[in-house]
Amino acid sequence: MTRFGIIGGGLMGHGIAVALAQAGHRVVVYDADPATLASLDERMVRALERCDLPPGDVGLVTARVTAAETLAELVPLVDTVIEAVPERLDIKQQVLEALEAKIPAVLPVWSNTSVLSLTEVAKGMRHPQRLVGVHWWNPPYLVPLVEVAPGAETDHRFVQEACDALNGMGKTTVRLHRDVPGFIGNRLQFALVREALHLLEQEVCDPATIDTVMRSSLGLRWAAVGPMENADFIGLDLTRNILDALAPHLSAAVTFPALDKPLSAGRRGRASGAGLLTWPAGRNEEVAQRLDNGIRRNLALP
Ligand SMILES: NC(=O)c1ccc[n+]([C@@H]2O[C@H](COP(=O)([O-])OP(=O)(O)OC[C@H]3O[C@@H](n4cnc5c(N)ncnc54)[C@H](O)[C@@H]3O)[C@@H](O)[C@H]2O)c1
Repeated sequence: MTRFGIIGGGLMGHGIAVALAQAGHRVVVYDADPATLASLDERMVRALERCDLPPGDVGLVTARVTAAETLAELVPLVDTVIEAVPERLDIKQQVLEALEAKIPAVLPVWSNTSVLSLTEVAKGMRHPQRLVGVHWWNPPYLVPLVEVAPGAETDHRFVQEACDALNGMGKTTVRLHRDVPGFIGNRLQFALVREALHLLEQEVCDPATIDTVMRSSLGLRWAAVGPMENADFIGLDLTRNILDALAPHLSAAVTFPALDKPLSAGRRGRASGAGLLTWPAGRNEEVAQRLDNGIRRNLALP
């Protein structure tokens, strides 16, 4: 049993807390926003209920997680710290600076950054050798994959310890050889999102159609056979011919009008009630439930 501290109890922080507590670990969560901290228990209960955990077990899991009102309160209670604050370099660096002033040099620190360079995140740290990129996927209590990567100065002992701890709780870890923005999964995911936006900008289809295509074809395939195995399966000669014909037409854009347009009209997605799609009341919880159900269904596949 390890005692984990999580800084940032938002979407990922509360989900990681659930994942760790389900594996029997103790967790202390600190968030700068008192309202987020106050709703932590309720959000964890909802997550566990969506997974059909019996009510008695829900209480057992959530009892392993406590809230800390200050960073100073969290620090003496934990053996490993996870930062899950917003994806902004300045915020992450400030949080790590404040944390390092309070913890011994040997304490491991995991960053849940999605796409920032770990080497950059570690800049300004007094002991950058302890920072490991540990990238969970939402919802962290269901998705098996956790990507683990070093920054330029990370001591590989800390990387190995992180992998051992995560494997010990049944996670599927992949270890990157070096620091690249976006690890592996988000580079693949956002290459696809970029192409989807390109299709919208070319007026080939509407946003809902993109989701229908993904959910009825590639989403089903990739849970069973990955793109590298599929390339071998269909043949590298065919894969090469397809790329020769298609690659010149694929997006290499670095500007995204299909996002800028709704954003400039205040349509930010779920949180504002509309984005690429509309988000009437109830859709938020329905999507969260569908996501959890879909992942659980795929995990049950042989
Ligand atoms: N959302 C995802 O699907 C996802 C998946 C994997 C990784 N991540 C990464 O996880 C991190 C957190 O993302 P999220 O989606 O949970 O964001 P979020 O906005 O839901 O949560 C961030 C939390 O950090 C708190 N916070 C802000 N500044 C703080 C500070 N100085 N000290 C303590 N708490 C502070 C906020 O109050 C908020 O509750 C980001 O780096 C993100 O890229 C997100």
